[in-house]
Amino acid sequence: RRILADELPDAQVIVVSNREPYIHNLKDGEIELIVPASGLVSALEPITRACGGTWIAYGGGSADRLTVDANDRVQVPPDNPSYVLRRVWLNQKEHDGYYLGFANEGLWPLCHIVFTRPVFRASDWETYEAVNRKFADIVVREARNQRPIVLVQDYHFALLPRMIRARLPEAIIITFWHIPWPNSEVFSICPWREKILDGLLGSSIIGFHTQFHCNNFTQSVDRFLESRIEREDAAISYGGQASLVHAYPISIEWPPALLESLPPVADCRRAVRRKYGLADDVRLCVGVERLDYTKGILDRFHALEDLFERHPEWIGKLTFLQIAAPSRGTLPAYRRLHEECVRCVEDLNRRFGHDGYKPVLMVAEHHSQRRVYEIYRAADLCMVTSLHDGMNLVAKEFVAARDDEQGVLLLSTFAGASKELLEALIVNPYDAAMMADALQQALTMPADEQQSRMRRMREIVRDNNVYRWAGSMLLDAARLRKRSDTERVTT
Ligand code: F6P
Repeated sequence: RRILADELPDAQVIVVSNREPYIHNLKDGEIELIVPASGLVSALEPITRACGGTWIAYGGGSADRLTVDANDRVQVPPDNPSYVLRRVWLNQKEHDGYYLGFANEGLWPLCHIVFTRPVFRASDWETYEAVNRKFADIVVREARNQRPIVLVQDYHFALLPRMIRARLPEAIIITFWHIPWPNSEVFSICPWREKILDGLLGSSIIGFHTQFHCNNFTQSVDRFLESRIEREDAAISYGGQASLVHAYPISIEWPPALLESLPPVADCRRAVRRKYGLADDVRLCVGVERLDYTKGILDRFHALEDLFERHPEWIGKLTFLQIAAPSRGTLPAYRRLHEECVRCVEDLNRRFGHDGYKPVLMVAEHHSQRRVYEIYRAADLCMVTSLHDGMNLVAKEFVAARDDEQGVLLLSTFAGASKELLEALIVNPYDAAMMADALQQALTMPADEQQSRMRRMREIVRDNNVYRWAGSMLLDAARLRKRSDTERVTT
Protein backbone atom coordinates (compact mmCIF):
# COMPACT_ATOMS: atom_id res chain seq x y z
CA ARG A 1 0.00 0.00 0.00
CA ARG A 2 2.86 2.35 0.89
CA ILE A 3 4.63 1.65 -2.43
CA LEU A 4 1.41 2.46 -4.28
CA ALA A 5 0.89 5.70 -2.35
CA ASP A 6 4.52 6.87 -2.67
CA GLU A 7 5.50 5.61 -6.09
CA LEU A 8 2.30 5.24 -8.07
CA PRO A 9 -0.09 7.78 -6.57
CA ASP A 10 -3.69 7.63 -7.80
CA ALA A 11 -3.07 4.45 -9.80
CA GLN A 12 -6.08 2.17 -9.81
CA VAL A 13 -5.29 -1.50 -9.23
CA ILE A 14 -7.19 -4.03 -11.36
CA VAL A 15 -6.55 -7.74 -10.81
CA VAL A 16 -7.69 -10.22 -13.47
CA SER A 17 -7.83 -13.97 -12.88
CA ASN A 18 -10.04 -16.82 -13.87
CA ARG A 19 -10.62 -18.07 -10.33
CA GLU A 20 -12.51 -15.68 -8.06
CA PRO A 21 -11.40 -15.13 -4.47
CA TYR A 22 -14.90 -15.67 -3.01
CA ILE A 23 -17.47 -18.08 -4.41
CA HIS A 24 -21.12 -17.92 -3.42
CA ASN A 25 -22.86 -21.28 -3.64
CA LEU A 26 -26.39 -22.39 -2.92
CA LYS A 27 -26.45 -25.17 -0.34
CA ASP A 28 -29.69 -26.51 1.15
CA GLY A 29 -31.49 -23.31 0.18
CA GLU A 30 -28.86 -21.13 1.93
CA ILE A 31 -26.07 -19.05 0.39
CA GLU A 32 -22.69 -20.43 1.41
CA LEU A 33 -19.39 -18.57 0.98
CA ILE A 34 -16.32 -20.52 -0.12
CA VAL A 35 -12.69 -19.51 -0.49
CA PRO A 36 -11.44 -21.82 -3.27
CA ALA A 37 -8.37 -24.06 -3.01
CA SER A 38 -6.02 -22.00 -5.15
CA GLY A 39 -2.48 -20.83 -4.58
CA LEU A 40 -3.25 -17.84 -6.74
CA VAL A 41 -6.12 -16.79 -4.48
CA SER A 42 -4.13 -17.38 -1.25
CA ALA A 43 -1.40 -15.11 -2.57
CA LEU A 44 -3.40 -12.36 -4.29
CA GLU A 45 -6.23 -11.96 -1.81
CA PRO A 46 -4.25 -10.32 1.04
CA ILE A 47 -2.57 -8.05 -1.51
CA THR A 48 -5.84 -6.87 -3.04
CA ARG A 49 -7.32 -6.46 0.43
CA ALA A 50 -4.39 -4.18 1.30
CA CYS A 51 -4.36 -2.21 -1.98
CA GLY A 52 -8.09 -1.96 -2.67
CA GLY A 53 -9.27 -1.72 -6.28
CA THR A 54 -11.15 -4.14 -8.50
CA TRP A 55 -10.71 -7.90 -8.99
CA ILE A 56 -12.24 -9.20 -12.23
CA ALA A 57 -12.90 -12.96 -12.32
CA TYR A 58 -15.20 -15.63 -13.66
CA GLY A 59 -18.31 -15.96 -11.49
CA GLY A 60 -18.70 -19.74 -11.29
CA GLY A 61 -20.64 -20.16 -8.02
CA SER A 62 -24.27 -21.29 -8.10
CA ALA A 63 -25.32 -18.21 -6.09
CA ASP A 64 -22.85 -15.75 -7.61
CA ARG A 65 -25.53 -14.00 -9.64
CA LEU A 66 -27.69 -13.59 -6.55
CA THR A 67 -25.05 -11.67 -4.65
CA VAL A 68 -23.94 -9.01 -7.18
CA ASP A 69 -25.39 -5.57 -7.86
CA ALA A 70 -26.78 -4.41 -11.20
CA ASN A 71 -23.20 -3.94 -12.49
CA ASP A 72 -22.18 -7.47 -11.57
CA ARG A 73 -20.11 -6.21 -8.65
CA VAL A 74 -19.93 -7.28 -5.04
CA GLN A 75 -17.86 -5.79 -2.21
CA VAL A 76 -15.55 -8.30 -0.55
CA PRO A 77 -14.44 -9.74 1.82
CA PRO A 78 -18.00 -9.89 3.13
CA ASP A 79 -17.05 -9.29 6.77
CA ASN A 80 -14.75 -6.36 6.00
CA PRO A 81 -15.31 -5.03 2.47
CA SER A 82 -12.10 -3.60 1.05
CA TYR A 83 -12.28 -4.11 -2.70
CA VAL A 84 -14.71 -4.79 -5.53
CA LEU A 85 -15.14 -8.24 -7.03
CA ARG A 86 -16.42 -7.79 -10.60
CA ARG A 87 -17.81 -11.08 -11.82
CA VAL A 88 -17.73 -12.15 -15.45
CA TRP A 89 -20.32 -14.64 -16.68
CA LEU A 90 -19.31 -17.40 -19.06
CA ASN A 91 -21.75 -19.64 -20.87
CA GLN A 92 -21.20 -23.40 -21.06
CA LYS A 93 -19.43 -23.21 -24.42
CA GLU A 94 -17.07 -20.48 -23.20
CA HIS A 95 -16.32 -22.34 -19.98
CA ASP A 96 -15.69 -25.64 -21.76
CA GLY A 97 -13.56 -24.26 -24.59
CA TYR A 98 -11.53 -21.63 -22.75
CA TYR A 99 -11.17 -23.06 -19.21
CA LEU A 100 -11.54 -26.84 -19.49
CA GLY A 101 -10.29 -27.06 -23.06
CA PHE A 102 -7.47 -24.74 -24.07
CA ALA A 103 -6.31 -23.69 -20.56
CA ASN A 104 -6.57 -27.03 -18.77
CA GLU A 105 -6.26 -29.70 -21.46
CA GLY A 106 -3.78 -27.68 -23.56
CA LEU A 107 -1.61 -25.20 -21.66
CA TRP A 108 -1.72 -26.93 -18.24
CA PRO A 109 -0.11 -30.25 -19.30
CA LEU A 110 2.08 -28.45 -21.87
CA CYS A 111 3.67 -26.25 -19.21
CA HIS A 112 3.96 -28.91 -16.49
CA ILE A 113 5.72 -31.59 -18.59
CA VAL A 114 4.02 -34.44 -16.72
CA PHE A 115 3.65 -36.81 -19.66
CA THR A 116 -0.07 -36.12 -19.96
CA ARG A 117 -0.46 -35.34 -23.62
CA PRO A 118 -1.73 -31.78 -24.20
CA VAL A 119 -4.90 -31.58 -26.29
CA PHE A 120 -5.13 -28.68 -28.76
CA ARG A 121 -8.47 -28.14 -30.49
CA ALA A 122 -9.01 -25.24 -32.88
CA SER A 123 -12.48 -24.65 -31.41
CA ASP A 124 -11.04 -24.36 -27.87
CA TRP A 125 -8.47 -21.88 -29.12
CA GLU A 126 -11.18 -19.73 -30.72
CA THR A 127 -13.15 -19.73 -27.48
CA TYR A 128 -10.01 -18.95 -25.46
CA GLU A 129 -9.40 -15.94 -27.71
CA ALA A 130 -13.04 -14.81 -27.43
CA VAL A 131 -13.05 -15.11 -23.62
CA ASN A 132 -9.77 -13.18 -23.37
CA ARG A 133 -11.44 -10.47 -25.48
CA LYS A 134 -14.46 -10.49 -23.18
CA PHE A 135 -12.22 -9.89 -20.15
CA ALA A 136 -10.32 -7.16 -22.05
CA ASP A 137 -13.62 -5.33 -22.66
CA ILE A 138 -14.41 -5.49 -18.97
CA VAL A 139 -10.95 -4.29 -17.90
CA VAL A 140 -11.35 -1.27 -20.20
CA ARG A 141 -14.84 -0.61 -18.85
CA GLU A 142 -13.68 -0.87 -15.23
CA ALA A 143 -10.61 1.38 -15.77
CA ARG A 144 -11.24 4.85 -14.36
CA ASN A 145 -8.55 6.42 -16.56
CA GLN A 146 -5.94 5.53 -19.18
CA ARG A 147 -3.27 4.55 -16.66
CA PRO A 148 -4.40 1.75 -14.37
CA ILE A 149 -2.12 -0.97 -13.04
CA VAL A 150 -3.53 -4.23 -14.34
CA LEU A 151 -2.37 -7.43 -12.67
CA VAL A 152 -3.10 -10.24 -15.11
CA GLN A 153 -2.95 -13.68 -13.51
CA ASP A 154 -1.96 -16.95 -15.12
CA TYR A 155 -2.23 -19.10 -18.20
CA HIS A 156 -5.93 -18.46 -18.72
CA PHE A 157 -5.08 -15.01 -20.09
CA ALA A 158 -2.06 -15.22 -22.38
CA LEU A 159 -3.73 -13.00 -24.99
CA LEU A 160 -5.16 -10.44 -22.60
CA PRO A 161 -2.07 -8.20 -22.13
CA ARG A 162 -1.85 -7.41 -25.87
CA MET A 163 -5.60 -6.77 -26.06
CA ILE A 164 -5.47 -4.36 -23.10
CA ARG A 165 -2.34 -2.65 -24.45
CA ALA A 166 -4.13 -1.91 -27.74
CA ARG A 167 -6.88 -0.02 -25.89
CA LEU A 168 -5.08 1.37 -22.86
CA PRO A 169 -1.57 2.07 -24.21
CA GLU A 170 -0.48 3.82 -21.03
CA ALA A 171 -1.55 1.11 -18.62
CA ILE A 172 1.04 -0.74 -16.58
CA ILE A 173 0.30 -4.38 -17.26
CA ILE A 174 1.98 -6.87 -14.94
CA THR A 175 1.37 -10.45 -16.00
CA PHE A 176 2.22 -13.20 -13.56
CA TRP A 177 2.45 -16.76 -14.90
CA HIS A 178 1.79 -18.98 -11.87
CA ILE A 179 2.78 -22.26 -13.50
CA PRO A 180 6.10 -23.37 -15.03
CA TRP A 181 7.21 -22.34 -18.51
CA PRO A 182 8.64 -25.29 -20.50
CA ASN A 183 11.76 -25.20 -22.67
CA SER A 184 11.31 -23.91 -26.21
CA GLU A 185 11.27 -27.39 -27.76
CA VAL A 186 8.34 -28.49 -25.60
CA PHE A 187 6.60 -25.14 -26.04
CA SER A 188 6.97 -25.41 -29.81
CA ILE A 189 4.29 -28.11 -30.02
CA CYS A 190 1.57 -25.55 -29.27
CA PRO A 191 -0.01 -24.68 -32.62
CA TRP A 192 -0.56 -21.05 -31.51
CA ARG A 193 2.86 -20.51 -29.94
CA GLU A 194 3.61 -17.20 -31.73
CA LYS A 195 0.23 -15.75 -30.80
CA ILE A 196 0.67 -16.69 -27.15
CA LEU A 197 4.10 -15.07 -27.01
CA ASP A 198 2.84 -11.99 -28.84
CA GLY A 199 -0.09 -11.72 -26.42
CA LEU A 200 2.12 -11.92 -23.35
CA LEU A 201 4.56 -9.37 -24.73
CA GLY A 202 1.80 -6.77 -24.52
CA SER A 203 2.77 -6.71 -20.79
CA SER A 204 5.06 -4.16 -19.19
CA ILE A 205 6.35 -6.89 -16.86
CA ILE A 206 6.11 -10.67 -17.19
CA GLY A 207 6.78 -12.51 -13.93
CA PHE A 208 7.61 -16.14 -13.20
CA HIS A 209 8.48 -17.84 -9.91
CA THR A 210 12.01 -18.84 -10.89
CA GLN A 211 14.83 -17.61 -13.11
CA PHE A 212 14.76 -20.98 -14.83
CA HIS A 213 11.22 -20.34 -16.12
CA CYS A 214 12.19 -16.79 -17.17
CA ASN A 215 15.05 -18.27 -19.19
CA ASN A 216 12.74 -20.81 -20.84
CA PHE A 217 10.32 -18.03 -21.76
CA THR A 218 13.05 -15.78 -23.17
CA GLN A 219 14.45 -18.71 -25.15
CA SER A 220 10.96 -19.37 -26.61
CA VAL A 221 10.60 -15.73 -27.67
CA ASP A 222 14.08 -15.74 -29.15
CA ARG A 223 13.24 -18.79 -31.19
CA PHE A 224 9.80 -17.87 -32.50
CA LEU A 225 9.55 -14.06 -32.71
CA GLU A 226 11.60 -11.33 -34.36
CA SER A 227 12.67 -9.61 -31.17
CA ARG A 228 15.66 -8.14 -29.36
CA ILE A 229 16.68 -9.78 -26.11
CA GLU A 230 18.53 -7.48 -23.75
CA ARG A 231 19.90 -9.98 -21.29
CA GLU A 232 21.60 -7.44 -19.00
CA ASP A 233 18.32 -5.58 -18.40
CA ALA A 234 16.24 -8.78 -18.47
CA ALA A 235 14.12 -7.09 -21.15
CA ILE A 236 12.63 -8.14 -24.46
CA SER A 237 11.97 -5.53 -27.16
CA TYR A 238 9.30 -6.55 -29.59
CA GLY A 239 7.08 -4.55 -31.91
CA GLY A 240 8.41 -1.23 -30.61
CA GLN A 241 7.71 -2.02 -26.97
CA ALA A 242 9.82 -3.44 -24.15
CA SER A 243 8.75 -6.02 -21.56
CA LEU A 244 10.70 -6.79 -18.43
CA VAL A 245 10.96 -10.55 -17.75
CA HIS A 246 11.73 -11.19 -14.12
CA ALA A 247 11.55 -13.83 -11.38
CA TYR A 248 9.33 -12.94 -8.42
CA PRO A 249 8.94 -15.97 -6.12
CA ILE A 250 5.39 -15.87 -4.83
CA SER A 251 4.61 -16.41 -1.18
CA ILE A 252 1.95 -16.15 1.52
CA GLU A 253 0.98 -13.43 3.98
CA TRP A 254 3.05 -13.35 7.15
CA PRO A 255 1.88 -14.14 9.71
CA PRO A 256 -1.18 -15.83 8.22
CA ALA A 257 -4.20 -13.90 9.53
CA LEU A 258 -6.12 -16.96 10.66
CA LEU A 259 -3.27 -18.28 12.81
CA GLU A 260 -4.26 -15.82 15.53
CA SER A 261 -7.61 -17.48 16.05
CA LEU A 262 -6.38 -21.09 15.90
CA PRO A 263 -5.98 -23.20 19.05
CA PRO A 264 -2.47 -24.19 20.21
CA VAL A 265 -0.74 -27.03 18.35
CA ALA A 266 -1.48 -29.57 21.11
CA ASP A 267 -5.23 -28.86 20.84
CA CYS A 268 -5.14 -29.13 17.05
CA ARG A 269 -3.36 -32.49 17.36
CA ARG A 270 -6.00 -33.77 19.73
CA ALA A 271 -8.90 -32.51 17.61
CA VAL A 272 -7.57 -33.86 14.30
CA ARG A 273 -6.65 -37.23 15.80
CA ARG A 274 -10.11 -37.55 17.30
CA LYS A 275 -11.74 -36.61 14.00
CA TYR A 276 -9.81 -39.22 12.00
CA GLY A 277 -9.78 -41.89 14.72
CA LEU A 278 -5.99 -42.01 15.17
CA ALA A 279 -4.42 -43.62 18.23
CA ASP A 280 -2.07 -41.42 20.27
CA ASP A 281 1.09 -43.25 19.22
CA VAL A 282 0.31 -43.07 15.49
CA ARG A 283 2.37 -40.54 13.50
CA LEU A 284 0.41 -38.35 11.13
CA CYS A 285 1.74 -37.47 7.68
CA VAL A 286 -0.37 -35.17 5.49
CA GLY A 287 -0.74 -34.10 1.88
CA VAL A 288 -3.01 -31.17 0.95
CA GLU A 289 -3.84 -30.15 -2.60
CA ARG A 290 -6.29 -30.11 -5.46
CA LEU A 291 -6.78 -33.58 -6.89
CA ASP A 292 -4.43 -32.92 -9.80
CA TYR A 293 -2.08 -35.19 -11.74
CA THR A 294 0.76 -32.67 -11.43
CA LYS A 295 0.88 -33.04 -7.65
CA GLY A 296 2.43 -36.51 -7.48
CA ILE A 297 -0.27 -37.99 -5.22
CA LEU A 298 0.06 -41.52 -6.63
CA ASP A 299 3.85 -41.29 -6.35
CA ARG A 300 3.43 -40.54 -2.67
CA PHE A 301 1.34 -43.70 -2.27
CA HIS A 302 4.10 -45.71 -4.00
CA ALA A 303 6.63 -44.29 -1.54
CA LEU A 304 4.44 -45.32 1.41
CA GLU A 305 4.18 -48.81 0.00
CA ASP A 306 7.96 -48.98 -0.25
CA LEU A 307 8.35 -47.70 3.33
CA PHE A 308 5.93 -50.27 4.76
CA GLU A 309 7.68 -53.06 2.84
CA ARG A 310 11.19 -52.10 3.95
CA HIS A 311 10.30 -50.76 7.40
CA PRO A 312 7.35 -52.83 8.61
CA GLU A 313 7.85 -51.33 12.08
CA TRP A 314 5.78 -48.37 10.82
CA ILE A 315 2.73 -50.51 10.03
CA GLY A 316 0.19 -49.57 12.67
CA LYS A 317 2.31 -46.55 13.67
CA LEU A 318 1.87 -44.21 10.70
CA THR A 319 -1.19 -42.83 8.93
CA PHE A 320 -1.06 -40.75 5.81
CA LEU A 321 -3.97 -38.31 5.42
CA GLN A 322 -4.56 -37.00 1.91
CA ILE A 323 -6.80 -33.96 1.66
CA ALA A 324 -7.73 -33.68 -2.02
CA ALA A 325 -9.92 -30.77 -3.10
CA PRO A 326 -12.03 -31.81 -6.11
CA SER A 327 -10.80 -30.03 -9.22
CA ARG A 328 -11.64 -29.93 -12.96
CA GLY A 329 -13.56 -33.14 -12.37
CA THR A 330 -15.27 -33.23 -15.76
CA LEU A 331 -11.97 -33.76 -17.58
CA PRO A 332 -11.07 -37.42 -18.30
CA ALA A 333 -7.48 -37.10 -16.99
CA TYR A 334 -8.80 -35.88 -13.62
CA ARG A 335 -11.50 -38.55 -13.40
CA ARG A 336 -8.93 -41.25 -14.15
CA LEU A 337 -6.61 -39.88 -11.48
CA HIS A 338 -9.40 -39.92 -8.90
CA GLU A 339 -10.28 -43.53 -9.70
CA GLU A 340 -6.65 -44.59 -9.59
CA CYS A 341 -6.10 -42.86 -6.23
CA VAL A 342 -9.15 -44.61 -4.74
CA ARG A 343 -7.87 -47.98 -6.03
CA CYS A 344 -4.40 -47.35 -4.64
CA VAL A 345 -5.70 -46.31 -1.21
CA GLU A 346 -7.92 -49.40 -1.01
CA ASP A 347 -5.01 -51.58 -1.98
CA LEU A 348 -2.67 -50.08 0.63
CA ASN A 349 -5.30 -50.36 3.32
CA ARG A 350 -5.97 -53.99 2.40
CA ARG A 351 -2.28 -54.88 2.47
CA PHE A 352 -1.12 -52.94 5.50
CA GLY A 353 -4.28 -52.16 7.49
CA HIS A 354 -5.64 -54.22 10.37
CA ASP A 355 -8.17 -54.05 13.23
CA GLY A 356 -9.56 -50.67 12.29
CA TYR A 357 -6.08 -49.22 11.54
CA LYS A 358 -5.83 -47.67 8.08
CA PRO A 359 -2.44 -46.55 6.81
CA VAL A 360 -3.99 -44.16 4.27
CA LEU A 361 -7.04 -41.91 4.47
CA MET A 362 -8.09 -39.86 1.49
CA VAL A 363 -10.74 -37.17 1.86
CA ALA A 364 -11.69 -35.83 -1.55
CA GLU A 365 -13.62 -32.76 -0.34
CA HIS A 366 -13.20 -29.03 -0.17
CA HIS A 367 -11.74 -27.96 3.23
CA SER A 368 -11.78 -24.40 4.55
CA GLN A 369 -8.41 -22.69 5.09
CA ARG A 370 -9.02 -22.91 8.82
CA ARG A 371 -9.45 -26.71 8.71
CA VAL A 372 -6.38 -27.02 6.50
CA TYR A 373 -4.25 -25.02 8.97
CA GLU A 374 -5.54 -27.15 11.85
CA ILE A 375 -4.39 -30.24 9.95
CA TYR A 376 -0.97 -28.70 9.23
CA ARG A 377 -0.59 -28.00 12.94
CA ALA A 378 -1.60 -31.53 13.88
CA ALA A 379 0.83 -33.26 11.51
CA ASP A 380 4.26 -34.74 12.16
CA LEU A 381 5.15 -34.58 8.48
CA CYS A 382 3.88 -32.91 5.33
CA MET A 383 4.54 -34.30 1.84
CA VAL A 384 4.66 -31.96 -1.17
CA THR A 385 5.69 -34.18 -4.06
CA SER A 386 4.66 -32.24 -7.20
CA LEU A 387 5.98 -33.67 -10.44
CA HIS A 388 6.39 -30.07 -11.57
CA ASP A 389 5.05 -26.93 -9.91
CA GLY A 390 5.58 -23.20 -10.35
CA MET A 391 6.01 -22.53 -6.63
CA ASN A 392 3.65 -24.59 -4.42
CA LEU A 393 2.27 -22.61 -1.53
CA VAL A 394 1.24 -25.65 0.54
CA ALA A 395 4.92 -26.03 1.44
CA LYS A 396 5.03 -22.44 2.68
CA GLU A 397 1.68 -22.68 4.47
CA PHE A 398 2.79 -25.79 6.37
CA VAL A 399 5.88 -23.93 7.57
CA ALA A 400 3.85 -20.85 8.48
CA ALA A 401 1.38 -22.94 10.49
CA ARG A 402 4.16 -24.43 12.67
CA ASP A 403 4.85 -21.76 15.25
CA ASP A 404 5.86 -24.65 17.57
CA GLU A 405 8.87 -25.14 15.25
CA GLN A 406 8.20 -28.86 14.89
CA GLY A 407 7.22 -31.03 11.93
CA VAL A 408 9.16 -32.14 8.85
CA LEU A 409 8.55 -31.09 5.26
CA LEU A 410 9.28 -33.44 2.35
CA LEU A 411 9.50 -31.28 -0.74
CA SER A 412 9.81 -32.09 -4.42
CA THR A 413 12.89 -30.78 -6.14
CA PHE A 414 10.55 -29.91 -9.06
CA ALA A 415 8.52 -27.37 -7.06
CA GLY A 416 9.75 -23.76 -7.15
CA ALA A 417 9.57 -23.71 -3.33
CA SER A 418 12.53 -26.13 -3.16
CA LYS A 419 14.80 -23.30 -4.33
CA GLU A 420 13.97 -21.39 -1.13
CA LEU A 421 13.13 -23.99 1.54
CA LEU A 422 16.48 -25.71 1.54
CA GLU A 423 15.99 -27.18 5.03
CA ALA A 424 13.13 -29.37 3.81
CA LEU A 425 13.98 -32.96 2.87
CA ILE A 426 14.25 -32.46 -0.88
CA VAL A 427 13.03 -35.47 -2.88
CA ASN A 428 12.59 -36.67 -6.44
CA PRO A 429 8.93 -37.78 -6.63
CA TYR A 430 9.74 -40.16 -9.50
CA ASP A 431 12.03 -42.13 -7.16
CA ALA A 432 9.80 -44.08 -4.73
CA ALA A 433 12.75 -45.61 -2.87
CA MET A 434 14.34 -42.23 -2.30
CA MET A 435 11.05 -40.85 -1.00
CA ALA A 436 10.65 -43.82 1.33
CA ASP A 437 14.17 -43.17 2.68
CA ALA A 438 13.23 -39.52 3.22
CA LEU A 439 10.08 -40.63 5.06
CA GLN A 440 12.21 -42.85 7.29
CA GLN A 441 14.59 -39.94 7.94
CA ALA A 442 11.66 -37.66 8.77
CA LEU A 443 10.01 -40.17 11.08
CA THR A 444 13.22 -40.64 13.07
CA MET A 445 14.37 -37.00 13.05
CA PRO A 446 15.18 -35.71 16.57
CA ALA A 447 13.10 -32.78 17.85
CA ASP A 448 16.09 -30.41 17.97
CA GLU A 449 16.89 -31.04 14.30
CA GLN A 450 13.24 -30.51 13.37
CA GLN A 451 13.37 -27.26 15.28
CA SER A 452 16.48 -25.87 13.61
CA ARG A 453 15.21 -26.77 10.14
CA MET A 454 11.74 -25.40 10.78
CA ARG A 455 13.07 -22.20 12.35
CA ARG A 456 15.22 -21.46 9.30
CA MET A 457 12.36 -22.15 6.89
CA ARG A 458 10.06 -19.90 8.90
CA GLU A 459 12.58 -17.07 8.66
CA ILE A 460 12.71 -17.48 4.90
CA VAL A 461 8.92 -17.40 4.49
CA ARG A 462 8.63 -14.50 6.95
CA ASP A 463 11.22 -12.43 5.08
CA ASN A 464 10.07 -13.36 1.57
CA ASN A 465 6.34 -12.99 2.19
CA VAL A 466 3.66 -12.14 -0.34
CA TYR A 467 3.83 -8.41 0.41
CA ARG A 468 7.44 -8.49 -0.66
CA TRP A 469 6.43 -10.35 -3.84
CA ALA A 470 3.86 -7.73 -4.76
CA GLY A 471 6.10 -4.89 -3.55
CA SER A 472 8.98 -5.85 -5.85
CA MET A 473 6.69 -6.01 -8.87
CA LEU A 474 5.12 -2.64 -8.04
CA LEU A 475 8.53 -1.04 -7.49
CA ASP A 476 9.65 -2.31 -10.90
CA ALA A 477 6.41 -0.99 -12.36
CA ALA A 478 6.98 2.43 -10.76
CA ARG A 479 10.49 2.55 -12.23
CA LEU A 480 9.11 1.76 -15.70
CA ARG A 481 6.44 4.43 -15.37
CA LYS A 482 8.96 7.06 -14.27
CA ARG A 483 11.20 6.17 -17.19
CA SER A 484 8.40 6.41 -19.75
CA ASP A 485 7.12 9.68 -18.22
CA THR A 486 10.64 11.14 -18.47
CA GLU A 487 10.97 9.97 -22.06
CA ARG A 488 7.63 11.58 -22.89
CA VAL A 489 8.69 14.92 -21.43
CA THR A 490 12.02 14.93 -23.24
CA THR A 491 10.61 14.02 -26.68
O1 F6P B 1 -1.80 -21.42 -10.75
C1 F6P B 1 -2.42 -22.61 -10.71
C2 F6P B 1 -3.94 -22.60 -10.75
O2 F6P B 1 -4.41 -23.09 -11.95
C3 F6P B 1 -4.58 -21.25 -10.55
O3 F6P B 1 -4.70 -20.57 -11.71
C4 F6P B 1 -5.88 -21.65 -9.97
O4 F6P B 1 -6.53 -20.70 -9.25
C5 F6P B 1 -5.53 -22.86 -9.14
O5 F6P B 1 -4.43 -23.44 -9.77
C6 F6P B 1 -6.68 -23.80 -8.99
O6 F6P B 1 -7.15 -24.26 -10.22
P1 F6P B 1 -8.62 -23.96 -10.74
O7 F6P B 1 -8.79 -22.48 -10.66
O8 F6P B 1 -8.66 -24.51 -12.11
O9 F6P B 1 -9.50 -24.67 -9.76
